[in-house]
Amino acid sequence: MRGWMVAGNWKMHNTQDEARTLSKYIVDNTVNIQGGEIVLAPPFTSLSVVYDVIKGSQVKLAAQNMYYEDKGAYTGEVSPAMLKDTGCSYVIIGHSERRKYFHETDEGVNLKTKKALSSGLMPIVCVGETLEEREKGITEYVVGIQVKKALNGIDGIADIVIAYEPVWAIGTGKNATPEEAEAVQKFIRGIVRDIYGSAADNLKILYGGSVTADNIGSLIEMEDIDGALVGGASLKGEGFVGIIKRVAEKR
Ligand code: 13P
Repeated sequence: MRGWMVAGNWKMHNTQDEARTLSKYIVDNTVNIQGGEIVLAPPFTSLSVVYDVIKGSQVKLAAQNMYYEDKGAYTGEVSPAMLKDTGCSYVIIGHSERRKYFHETDEGVNLKTKKALSSGLMPIVCVGETLEEREKGITEYVVGIQVKKALNGIDGIADIVIAYEPVWAIGTGKNATPEEAEAVQKFIRGIVRDIYGSAADNLKILYGGSVTADNIGSLIEMEDIDGALVGGASLKGEGFVGIIKRVAEKR
């Protein structure tokens, strides 16, 4: 089976001291949990601090973004080699906040995904429709394009994770119902199956958008939801560990 993953996207939160305390709580309280992957994505400034805490544990490190070149005059950017050097094994790519505020395109997401793979980082590729797109009834059209373009020219998906994050559910407290999420997650797996065949059955597809310890239980019961990409609720140790425990219990 494909197992589960719970990833905490801290976004632009936490100083180094806060990052140390939070990651230590998570490591200490997940020692006996098995069968899945637990990932923390702090801001760049706390990657090393968090790595010092998690190394030797089952908790893994992700960056929230990267650039697709190895080095050069790209002020403000960070390369995959730098991320690996800091202890990262994963990188979030194409988060809707990067698409919205920093004008990331599907083409850029594709370049970054390819570069992450060739650099030995596992990309967590984010897709999802806006409220307007959902209301127009074009969710599958939009998400389908995002998935196909992100994977364009990529030979295999063994080292990729996809996160479906409906934009209208992010940070709004309004999560998709398990059925709404499952419909899109299943659609995504279908697209991937069309391209990669049965390898799609091993692809982890996460749900993200206002996930909490209270609502994850019914989401994770869905066949095509293999875990969660958690924003706000990953900033509190107890709540985040609660999510991990519920996922591990049900999967
Ligand atoms: P929230 O859990 O705060 O809605 O954020 C979801 C998200 O964007 C994770 O990447």
